Amino acid sequence: MDMNFDRHRRLRSSANMRALVRETHLRAEDFIYPLFIVEGKQQKQEISSMPGIYQISLDLMKQELDEIVQLGIKAVILFGVPEEKDECGTGAYHDHGIVQEATREVKKHYPELLVVADTCLCEYTDHGHCGVVKDGEVLNDESLQLLVKTSVSQAQAGADIIAPSNMMDGFVTAIRRGLDEAGFKEIPIMSYAVKYSSAFYGPFREAANSAPQFGDRKTYQMDPANRLEALREAHSDIEEGADFLIIKPALSYMDIIRDVKNECHLPIVAYNVSGEYSMVKAAAANGWIDEKAIVLESLTSMKRAGADLIISYFAKDVAKWLQEG
Ligand code: PBG
Ligand code: ZN
Repeated sequence: MDMNFDRHRRLRSSANMRALVRETHLRAEDFIYPLFIVEGKQQKQEISSMPGIYQISLDLMKQELDEIVQLGIKAVILFGVPEEKDECGTGAYHDHGIVQEATREVKKHYPELLVVADTCLCEYTDHGHCGVVKDGEVLNDESLQLLVKTSVSQAQAGADIIAPSNMMDGFVTAIRRGLDEAGFKEIPIMSYAVKYSSAFYGPFREAANSAPQFGDRKTYQMDPANRLEALREAHSDIEEGADFLIIKPALSYMDIIRDVKNECHLPIVAYNVSGEYSMVKAAAANGWIDEKAIVLESLTSMKRAGADLIISYFAKDVAKWLQEG
């Protein structure tokens, strides 16, 4: 029989052969692990919509950090759950705010572990929006000043990377200038450059107690229907001085990850958000899917799509699976 076709199966013939030609790999150091820090003592409260993820108090952070470091994870991103909230989100930029204290706690035990500080107001405002609200509107330029204060106080507490997630226009310019003037020229900005207004953030808002008390975030977060707008957002953040670009969510936005990766030559970070985590957990708890296989496949796909780094609630699980080999 004289047939002419390509024999693709030659490179799939054994596990070792497949390993030899595998294009995409997951490593523990690709991951940034989110932590929710609450005020009080001896608090460890599981988030009901996110099994395995806890709100923890400062005094219980050490054991969590031990595990993270032992697993080879190099960075955490901190979210604060303050006891008190007010109109202008004072807790976000207070010197002894919960994230500032948590940052000091990390640095006390593990000075090398990178602390990424999420810079936003929504966890600290009583109305739950990411900026200053007046007459039912979220004001852009007025919000910038508070975000700058927040980022500087996070840097003063020892944060290694500032990650503004508020989606006000010009936040990178404002925060870069604020950090530089305060003497933090060397601290990079990991911008949530492309952040969609997404239903996938639902469980996070339970975890961080940060749901907006009126309206929604559609006047500042992006419309999920838009693709070109993502490139406009990414380009302006690069011009403003961003050092990393986050795309969020990840799973339904793989095309956007690839677009930004192709056009922008900064490290690309995919945020595998809370709703993506909860869906997998719920299906796995029912025995409907193979959790480990699904998680590894979807995270590998995010890297294949162009992500260099992934912020994920699965980070510890993946690191464990990688250690087990
Ligand atoms: C705060 C913030 C949010 C997330 C990260 N930072 C929530 C939001 O914008 O509503 C979502 C993370 C997740 O869902 O895992 N601005
Ligand atoms: Zn916010």
